[in-house]
Amino acid sequence: LTPQDLASETILVTAGPTREELDPVRYLSNYSSGKMGYAIARAASRRGARVILVSGPTCLAPPAGIDVRRVSSALQMQQAVMECLPVVTVVIKAAAVADYRPEQRDKQKIKKGPADRMQLNLLKNPDILSELGRVKGDRLLIGFAAETENLEEHALRKLKNKNLDMILANDVSHPEAGFEVDTNLVRIFYRNGTAEQCLLMSKAELADVVLDRLLRLRYPSAAG
Ligand code: PMT
Repeated sequence: LTPQDLASETILVTAGPTREELDPVRYLSNYSSGKMGYAIARAASRRGARVILVSGPTCLAPPAGIDVRRVSSALQMQQAVMECLPVVTVVIKAAAVADYRPEQRDKQKIKKGPADRMQLNLLKNPDILSELGRVKGDRLLIGFAAETENLEEHALRKLKNKNLDMILANDVSHPEAGFEVDTNLVRIFYRNGTAEQCLLMSKAELADVVLDRLLRLRYPSAAG
């Protein structure tokens, strides 16, 4: 029987990419499949937590027994996350949120013109995790960092700037880590300055590691 060690937590997980629309048929996005976030949501629910999954567009089946809120853009994800926040005790942000969105969304399909070059103006999206960091209270905030270089430096900067308790840094240039694949390879950095290198493992296994570590942060004196 799975221990119900998360029964006192309400965990909000974000998963998948966001889509930033250019016109009715095109968007900017990334390769996130949602697998990492869905694995965490499933494991947290199995371990007794109430789970809210705010999901960008994915092909994954919604996990049974979980409150799934579907969104598309970063602005919609921000709204859904902030709406749920009052009842939440932990946030785990596995979603790959687009940092920028097109300045304007054309109502009609953009037509090909005579010019060889086309310019696209982008606006910065709100950083949802930074916003959460400013209002976190005694919630636990866990982020991911998808990096292709200087993993430690970038992850530590995000940990500090976003006021996180821990961050999982993925080297997404590794073929078996990060986007789309069923495995992940992360180094975890904690608020207290410690770090932990995890082995390559399935996203399902990593989900349980993340949840074990959050319990350790919640109950430091119980750690054995
Ligand atoms: O979905 P999969 O295919 O399984 O892939 C998993 C994954 C690679 C997407 C996942 O493991 C991962 O690394 N997710 C975070 C990807 C990302 O956007 O990283 P980032 O370094 O750009 O963002 C850092 C953190 O800030 C993330 O927790 C992100 O959710 C959050 N963020 C970023 C930008 C923004 N505007 N708002 C945010 O909240």
